Amino acid sequence: MRVLVTGGAGYIGSHTLIELLAADHAPLVVDNFANSSPVALERVAQLTNRVFDHVEASITDTAAIRQVCDEFQPEAVIHFAGLKAVGESGQSPLTYYSTNVGGTIELLKAMDGCGCRRMIFSSSATVYGVADYLPFDEKHPLNPVNPYGRTKFFIEEIIRDWAATDPEKSAMLLRYFNPVGAHQSGRIGEDPNGIPDNLMPYIAQVAVGKRDQLTVFGDDYDTPDGTGVRDYIHVNDLASGHLAALDYAARHAGVEAVNLGTGKGHSVLEVIAAFEQAAGRPIPYTVGPRRPGDIASSHATAARAASLLGWQAGISLEQMCEDTWRWQSRNPEGYSD
Ligand code: UFG
Repeated sequence: MRVLVTGGAGYIGSHTLIELLAADHAPLVVDNFANSSPVALERVAQLTNRVFDHVEASITDTAAIRQVCDEFQPEAVIHFAGLKAVGESGQSPLTYYSTNVGGTIELLKAMDGCGCRRMIFSSSATVYGVADYLPFDEKHPLNPVNPYGRTKFFIEEIIRDWAATDPEKSAMLLRYFNPVGAHQSGRIGEDPNGIPDNLMPYIAQVAVGKRDQLTVFGDDYDTPDGTGVRDYIHVNDLASGHLAALDYAARHAGVEAVNLGTGKGHSVLEVIAAFEQAAGRPIPYTVGPRRPGDIASSHATAARAASLLGWQAGISLEQMCEDTWRWQSRNPEGYSD
């Protein structure tokens, strides 16, 4: 299938490209490299021994996106591109709305212009907000608690309205839990700009000596060891989930929201212990105050992904840490090495 991949040079996009190429799909990447590197695309090409093109453009560039769609004639779009820092979204909400929401509208218009009727969208478990109950299933009320999360919520609604205009349109709203890990080659992985916001890349940078110590954000939550619990999912599992969603969308019209998680939660202290084991070195940490906006626990029920897509995540926390460590230790400066 000809698949347009927005944000294809990013962390999840690059891992999904490998799966797409392995399954003989024909991807075209659109990326403005705002938070990603063209080196990731070169490495995907090397790892797969396959050639594919990319266009350097923002999804907010209407003319560029229309031209890409008109020339490439995609049969499906996998839409990763967007801004994703929760804290920054509170400082610059309008930038988040114009890039994430505005960019998606331009993309959907361009898809209509070229007759493309399949959309696979990178949503987030953050659309659920504070848990009324756990595990989160897809029927849980949506109540995102920051502008980033609200962009994902609004985009889901916009895609539903877009899909309702044509009985042959199909859209998958993939709600990711906490993606971690890296390709087993150690050649591609997560390369955050500046100080990492997220736990796993922060631990990895402590392990490699780039940062002195980790701060554990609170140990007085109502969880077994007091630290926050999350559903960490290996990025390769997430990538294969996109392939399953693409197959499903090719066979079914309509819109489906699907959690992509493992169904199992791990605490911050469990992740630290698993990473110490994988890296063979201690991870110094101190316990600090809670981070504003954090919730105690978040994990998925993965039942819908299993029944609808025939997909489930299988890679262990140990493997997530080993693969993150391989990537980080071989590329201490990420793609700028
Ligand atoms: N944590 C620390 N220290 C750190 C970073 C994180 O103790 O330096 C803790 C957090 O308090 C939390 C856990 O580690 O308990 C995970 O935090 P992350 O920042 O890695 O992940 P979040 O669950 O907060 O958020 C992530 C993404 C969001 C996405 C959400 C989906 O950052 O974009 O998962 O549920 F929306």
